[in-house]
Amino acid sequence: MSAPAAASPRCRVLGIETSCDETSAAVVEGAGDDVTLRSLVILSQDVHRLFGGVVPEIASRAHLASIEPVVARALADAGLTLAELDAVAVTHGPGLVGALLVGVSYGKAIAFGAGVPVVGVHHMEGHLFATALEHADAVPPFTALLVSGGHTLLLDVEAWGRYRLLGATRDDAAGEAFDKVAKLLGLPYPGGRLVEQLAREGNPARYRLPRPMLRGNQRPGDDDYFDVSFSGLKTAVLGAVKAAPDLGAAKAHIARAFQDALVETLVEKTVRAVRLHDRDRVVLGGGVACNQALASAMRSRLEPRGVRVFTPSPRLATDNAAMIARAGLFRFEQGERAGLELNAYASLRMPGLV
Ligand code: KG4
Ligand code: ZN
Repeated sequence: MSAPAAASPRCRVLGIETSCDETSAAVVEGAGDDVTLRSLVILSQDVHRLFGGVVPEIASRAHLASIEPVVARALADAGLTLAELDAVAVTHGPGLVGALLVGVSYGKAIAFGAGVPVVGVHHMEGHLFATALEHADAVPPFTALLVSGGHTLLLDVEAWGRYRLLGATRDDAAGEAFDKVAKLLGLPYPGGRLVEQLAREGNPARYRLPRPMLRGNQRPGDDDYFDVSFSGLKTAVLGAVKAAPDLGAAKAHIARAFQDALVETLVEKTVRAVRLHDRDRVVLGGGVACNQALASAMRSRLEPRGVRVFTPSPRLATDNAAMIARAGLFRFEQGERAGLELNAYASLRMPGLV
């Protein structure tokens, strides 16, 4: 009789995220894909609204002021002390380098003090893992569309840690395009959510904006088959704004036309990726995954083909440390340990690209 397989030990990982304008800490506990979120604290830096965008130096200083209480609160909510952790996972890139340095330095210091190992996590790999915290089936193999303020990535995820980069943006990220369009329409930063709200009141037939990098005659292997580009779309919005005799009356229609063009492009590229790799699951991640028009367009195109679409709740879609702890737990289980020389990087290649 063969011995039953030994269950892998459950790990407790503290995650720290400070790559942009959220100071966040979280604790997860589990093994493999059986992972539970024990606590999550997110402190958003509202101050940047005054400037219409994130001011890096202000972000670093705000992280410095809040990192200690945020981490303490995440540990207290989880009912754990530092010494009871198996690892500290911290975002070490990509992002604002000064902001990242606060999390990296703090994470290393508390881990060193408690005698616990540190794991460096790539911010976008964190976004990839976020949905799995809420949906047990949002695990590989799947097609992933990561749409945040800084990145737009279309990936085929064969297994955790094995990622095929199919496409990316050639210029603005999807969230960045939303934020820039929000600014053109006179909305405050970050404007993605507000553009979506405005678009609900818009008439889709009033404006027709271009679908960049989307042609019916593109074939797999063409270098624009999976890539996207949003700067031309933003320029088209600017043209519509300038030409509108009464912007107040036109702006909901412009928002709707912009969102429709962006959503149709992202959905079409994702469908191509699903088809090419014959996947039956799609996982969305990043702040733009909060967008209901994107999620429902994705579902209505893919569900009739038997493909399930998983989206994270807004709290886990936008920047948070739960996703960093979750990705860190995977990296920790792979045997990864960072030394105290772990550094912060403004740009960083995603690990596991095949
Ligand atoms: O992932 P995230 O929190 O930060 C980065 O890693 O960049 O994404 C933030 C982005 C912002 O550009 C924000 O405007 C956008 O996500 N966003 C949305 C929505 N909610 C947040 N974009 C469109 N529709 C939304 N509902
Ligand atoms: Zn992010």
